[in-house]
Amino acid sequence: MRVIIVPDYDALTEEAARIIKKEIEIKPDLVLGLATGTTPLGVYRKLIQFHQEESLDFSKVRTFNLDEYVGLSPKHPMSYNYFMWNNFFRYINIREENVYIPRGDIKDLQAHCRWYEQKIKQVGGIDLQLLGIGRDGHIGFNEPGSSFGSRTRIKTLTPETIEDNSRFFKNKEEVPKYAITMGIRTIYEAKHCLLLASGKTKARAIRECIEGPVSAFVPASFLQFHPQVTVILDEQAASELQRKDYYKHSEKFQRQLEEDLK
Ligand code: F6R
Repeated sequence: MRVIIVPDYDALTEEAARIIKKEIEIKPDLVLGLATGTTPLGVYRKLIQFHQEESLDFSKVRTFNLDEYVGLSPKHPMSYNYFMWNNFFRYINIREENVYIPRGDIKDLQAHCRWYEQKIKQVGGIDLQLLGIGRDGHIGFNEPGSSFGSRTRIKTLTPETIEDNSRFFKNKEEVPKYAITMGIRTIYEAKHCLLLASGKTKARAIRECIEGPVSAFVPASFLQFHPQVTVILDEQAASELQRKDYYKHSEKFQRQLEEDLK
């Protein structure tokens, strides 16, 4: 894992957006896995800026979102579909047919999950997967207890996740109880995973994800097995890491090495 610790949220979004920009420039038809939530919002703003000011081209980019609430139609203002169009896609030149977000309002959800997995395979897999992390260590909606072998499926949300996400709804009762989510195995098969975390509330989950034992209890910890993971943290999210100084030291030398090799 490459752990990059930056002073604050602004620096985190800048760093993450630059990584995504670079990958799109190298591979214009990049298959990009995307997340919703508060953490990636600044990254989306930055990418919109790169599109508007530096002509970053999304016309060939394909995107696959991690998850969607069961029961909400794409037009529902709390759906992740609505979130993505409203906060990102409408401001860039992505083609609608290149955007994939699970549908939560389909009758045969199981068949839809299988179709989603198939679609990811068909395009050659996800090149870069953007991830946030829940306070309980979830990625996507893979709540604690999720299996390493899991694929896109329906998950029951934990009371903590319902509580956390109720900030977007009128009240807790309105938060859907289920979601469709890519599985741990689906995420694991992405060629590069980019995990972001900001703020003190994520510090424990980050410590357990990076330095704790790999366990279904902390689904994000499975990333320790992945060959290419970049974790970008602000100081607060990194505050409980035991080897924080080493990660900073090692990143400094890594950058120096990259400069020397140019
Ligand atoms: C959302 C998702 C979730 C969030 C996580 C953190 O698509 O995959 O795993 O990344 O719940 O959410 P925020 O960023 O709102 O703290």
